[in-house]
Amino acid sequence: MAPKALITGITGQDGSYLAEFLLARGYDVIGLHRRTSTVTFERIAHLTDRLTLVPADLMDESSMIRLLRDHRPGEVYNLAAQSFVQTSFAQPLLTGEVTALGVTRLLDAILLVDPSIRFYQASSSEMFGKVVEVPQTERTPFYPRSPYGVAKLYGHWITVNYRESYGMHASSGILFNHESPRRGLEFVTRKVTFNAAAIKLGLQKSVSLGNLEAQRDWGFAADYVHAMWLMLQQDEPGDYVIATGQTHPVRELCEIAFDQVGLDWEDHVVVDQQFFRPAEVDLLIGDPSKATDQLGWKPEVGFEDLIRMMVDADLAALKKGS
Ligand code: NAP
Ligand code: GDD
Repeated sequence: MAPKALITGITGQDGSYLAEFLLARGYDVIGLHRRTSTVTFERIAHLTDRLTLVPADLMDESSMIRLLRDHRPGEVYNLAAQSFVQTSFAQPLLTGEVTALGVTRLLDAILLVDPSIRFYQASSSEMFGKVVEVPQTERTPFYPRSPYGVAKLYGHWITVNYRESYGMHASSGILFNHESPRRGLEFVTRKVTFNAAAIKLGLQKSVSLGNLEAQRDWGFAADYVHAMWLMLQQDEPGDYVIATGQTHPVRELCEIAFDQVGLDWEDHVVVDQQFFRPAEVDLLIGDPSKATDQLGWKPEVGFEDLIRMMVDADLAALKKGS
């Protein structure tokens, strides 16, 4: 019988890549999506005839219990979250409900229905926040700097707690930033690549950004979903840092993106205070040695190739008018 996996957050960037990855390996894929007034299947439109899509919500434990009872997955990947850091400052309680307590609701539903289900929690480098050491490993102390980071830290520890309390195969992937042409337009990489393409096509003249000195360890989303799967194939559950080990400032992101369309970024980027955060994470750089040694995982696509790929995808999409 084909293995069966449930993905929460299947309509998001990572959900779409993970669904592709699991389908290619012969899985039956169940996608949990929340009810919305318009369809949000844009990223999985090419897959919908091969997926089982079930409405449920991380805010509603009984909806997840029913889903688990009806579909009986062997693996659950919890990717659903309010995932935008800036929004977490404006909506801290909603972020806590979904991104923190939502994890407990799902773990508890698994405990009630079938504790042998293997569980993946989408933890985040944002938990390191005001970093205590560089680079960050699985042993680095956490110091979150946003309501989102605090919520993710709760999700991380409740995953560890259910593992230790109930012997569940529950793993936490501490993923550093990962991007793709399917990245949401509000995140800085896609904001820059999309606007560079739009400026090149004469659709606008400039783009407004916040902190150009912030540094991130940026990888390619399709590489990172592979690591999620590898964690659930191990005999023992664990926590793993997934990163490239290299960091770049937002300024360099701008240089590469505008270079790809033959423009000078300094002629088009405007700094605007509204995009600065009340508290910032200045220097994220991950050490993925444990994942390399134990999972055999390594990133395939480097930062510059990733940004050039995203600009090309945005140019092509804008030319097509989508
Ligand atoms: P994303 O594109 O923002 O996707 C988030 C998903 O969560 C969407 O499918 C969204 O559904 C869903 N969702 C939100 N609230 C929900 C609720 N109450 N019930 C059910 N589903 C809900 O995020 P992503 O970039 O794919 O990231 C995937 C996960 O990894 C997130 O948990 C994120 O916090 C975490 N993470 C991401 C990164 C990164 O760099 N991408 C790094 C570390 C950790 P709608 O489509 O309906 O909004
Ligand atoms: N979004 C955004 N917009 N960020 C900007 C801008 C802007 O106009 N200008 C500068 N930045 C800076 C932010 O201040 C931040 O330091 C950095 O660019 C990256 O911002 P985002 O792309 O919004 O990502 P993030 O690092 O805050 O969060 C992402 O990565 C986390 C992992 O570290 C999200 O995907 C989170 O869900 C994820 O956990």
